[in-house]
Amino acid sequence: MIVKRRASITGWGKCVPPVKLTNDDLEQLVDTTDEWIVARTGISERGISHVEVTDLAEVAAHRALAAAGLEPTDIDLLVVATVTPEITCPSQACYLQERLGAVNAAAFDLNAACSGWVYGSATVASMIEAGIADRVLLIGAEKLHFVMDYYDREQCILFGDGAGAGVYEASTAGDGVLASDIGADGVAGRTMVIPTLGTAGELSQRREPSDARLHFEGQAVFKLAVRGMEGSVRRALDRAGLGVDDVDLVVPHQANLRIINSVTRRLGVPPEKVMLNIATHGNTSAASIPMALADAVDQGRIEPNSIVVQTAFGGGLTWGTTVMRWGDRVEAIAKSDVELPPCDKSVFELLADNRAFFAPLHQEQAEN
Ligand SMILES: CC(C)(COP(=O)(O)OP(=O)(O)OC[C@H]1O[C@@H](n2cnc3c(N)ncnc32)[C@H](O)[C@@H]1OP(=O)(O)O)[C@@H](O)C(=O)NCCC(=O)NCCS
Repeated sequence: MIVKRRASITGWGKCVPPVKLTNDDLEQLVDTTDEWIVARTGISERGISHVEVTDLAEVAAHRALAAAGLEPTDIDLLVVATVTPEITCPSQACYLQERLGAVNAAAFDLNAACSGWVYGSATVASMIEAGIADRVLLIGAEKLHFVMDYYDREQCILFGDGAGAGVYEASTAGDGVLASDIGADGVAGRTMVIPTLGTAGELSQRREPSDARLHFEGQAVFKLAVRGMEGSVRRALDRAGLGVDDVDLVVPHQANLRIINSVTRRLGVPPEKVMLNIATHGNTSAASIPMALADAVDQGRIEPNSIVVQTAFGGGLTWGTTVMRWGDRVEAIAKSDVELPPCDKSVFELLADNRAFFAPLHQEQAEN
């Protein structure tokens, strides 16, 4: 009998910045209310990082490695999904490899925006199935507040910072990623854009406030997200030979509670099978699913051999889904004592540079 080699998650961890931006705080920055934000998005607070992306990723990585009972040197591939890498070259993954001392790991970054974790899961699962890698550390890490305009109430309420990590290991026991679906629509990509952090335009304009922030068309993205994730979950389940009733837990990208509710209602997944942590983290892009997955395991929402569906939608536009059978172990082998350094600044102090940078844009708009 041929035993299929699959990629199974054996370690999980997350890192959340200690400083929170609450809806009450946002009421002091833009014309909004806690009631509006909670009703339209399900978000109450989000993390604002006082450290760099590498620091967030490093803590999440140590926690996932400890949960898997592995050392950094055991890893043979390290992939970081992010749209906010600390620098362009070396990659965020190589930067992190150095920090972790994961000297035996190949390393590269992957940009599929909020679908980055699912694209990453599909990629590393394929590489494990092909025998290219045995033990992979996949990380989603973002410092999104860097590209947020905290004068723009439509965007700054949604996003937060954080990192999530998972260890994928080769398994021949029947557990692991059973099927994946990934897709993209570059034409619709114009509905969500971060112009800079690339080489487009004049060198002298690279830090123009209007180019340095996220732009999106909220309602267009909302509709595309619902349709995109529903279709992707159906295709991935079909490929796995499973139906919606076989699913034990859906871990969706935490973009907006109303998007999640629409997708799962259309699929026929009951609320008790949907993992949510958006209220306390907001949308952390590529970090959102691994952060939710870590919470799901730690809260006992995943049992041995559970069928777990991860699904996401994001900039690009991109979408993706993985269907996996969890392994036998749902307890961490060990816990890491690595922590972020403490922060002695208030959230308003952390956002002061950002507000100063984007202020001229809004003065210009008010004058025109
Ligand atoms: C952005 C989003 C929350 C807006 O919610 P919505 O229900 O579509 O709201 P609308 O855009 O229809 O705006 C309704 C009204 O609320 C106002 N509004 C927008 N943001 C507001 C805020 N933070 N507080 C108060 N009012 C706000 C709008 O100006 C509009 O006012 P108007 O009717 O006077 O013009 C929602 O479209 C969304 O989540 N989209 C997806 C964005 C996203 O997650 N992108 C990343 C995906 S990975």
